[in-house]
Amino acid sequence: MPVSGALLNAFDTLTQERQEPCFVYDLDSLRKHLDELMAQDVVKLWYAVKANPLSAVIDTLAAAGFDFDVASSGELNQVLSQHVGAQRILNTGPAKSRQQLGEFLDAGVRTFVLESINQVRWLNELAYNQGIEVDVLLRVQLRWPEGERNPLGGNTLTPFGLAPEQWQGLYLADYPALNCIGLHIFQWGNMLDAAQLLHLWQSMLAPLQALCERLGFAMQVLDLGGGLGVPYDSESSPLKWQDVLGALRDIKRQSGVKELWMELGRYAVAQCGYYLDPVIEQKTNYGERQLIVAGGINHLLRPAVAGQNFPAQLLRRSTAEQVNYRIHGPLCTALDSLGQHSLPEDIDEHDWLVFMQAGAYGFTESMPFFLCHSLAGEYVFEHGTLRVVREPQPASFYLR
Ligand SMILES: Cc1ncc(COP(=O)(O)O)c(C=O)c1O
Repeated sequence: MPVSGALLNAFDTLTQERQEPCFVYDLDSLRKHLDELMAQDVVKLWYAVKANPLSAVIDTLAAAGFDFDVASSGELNQVLSQHVGAQRILNTGPAKSRQQLGEFLDAGVRTFVLESINQVRWLNELAYNQGIEVDVLLRVQLRWPEGERNPLGGNTLTPFGLAPEQWQGLYLADYPALNCIGLHIFQWGNMLDAAQLLHLWQSMLAPLQALCERLGFAMQVLDLGGGLGVPYDSESSPLKWQDVLGALRDIKRQSGVKELWMELGRYAVAQCGYYLDPVIEQKTNYGERQLIVAGGINHLLRPAVAGQNFPAQLLRRSTAEQVNYRIHGPLCTALDSLGQHSLPEDIDEHDWLVFMQAGAYGFTESMPFFLCHSLAGEYVFEHGTLRVVREPQPASFYLR
């Protein structure tokens, strides 16, 4: 993944001035990417704020025309603070308490993905008491019978949504404040093959349509969640947006819905982000090369939870032979590994590594407090210049 010369210069300046790990988000390239995603009339795009809730990132998505998938009161307040209107917000997530639903209604949110019978009951009561009607989608979790070919590859039970058997007992007329406009389904992740996505989506249509018939409403909207992938290794090819659009066009036609929706996280913002990490030292242990770096899963937890590394490069140019390293962070747990990487053999304690695809599920999907290391800084690169959002902070920033 090539990095522009201007951005490399910005990295150089930053790493000469500071010694702590930090994230840099390239908003110029993000804007270009988002414009490409928005230049179509096939799918309505929401941004899954959980991928990266930084204010400057939200601003850029809002300006590009994305609306916002918000999954907590914290995300709601962050999006509203960027002057995004509540009518541009969709509330998803399995843990919506009655209180949280009330907060969203009070803020003016009128579109909800509901994931349980209680959520249906609570939202109806709250909206009814306020004399308002809200649009809702029911989130469905599908399973395939044993022995049948399963396009998902497995039947892991999650708390996301409900089985059709659970939903079909619902009598929608009992909930007059809810306008049921469609269904939501999202049970796949980091998909890099549009044909496979199409196959997956197609195999879900029949059970979803059967559910709508049982419930007695026409599916106007089908929300296919997120799950569009980005390559985390050099062997994988990026998922082409035009191929995704082709698959979505087919699904729209086959399902007969008026609107398709997706909430993109990773595919929207991963590629704009970089994590800069100083090397502490290189050592050899039982014949294996190890690189010890200043920031590990305290700043980038994903490799430990998803078993997938962020791609890494050495910041400076080197013509030395590429060798295999295991990269380890500063925490006192063997879990603190950023994976195995092929990098030049002359890396030493003056060097920095750059981890790519760190714009999504980076800074806020981490465990920053363990061992009291510094919090990673966050910077944005916009109109060719670097701007600090928050300098790296010592543990005294949060310890009381
Ligand atoms: C409901 C919902 N929609 C969308 C997303 C975004 O997924 P992705 O980052 O794979 O696009 C998530 C991620 O967890 C989610 O929970």
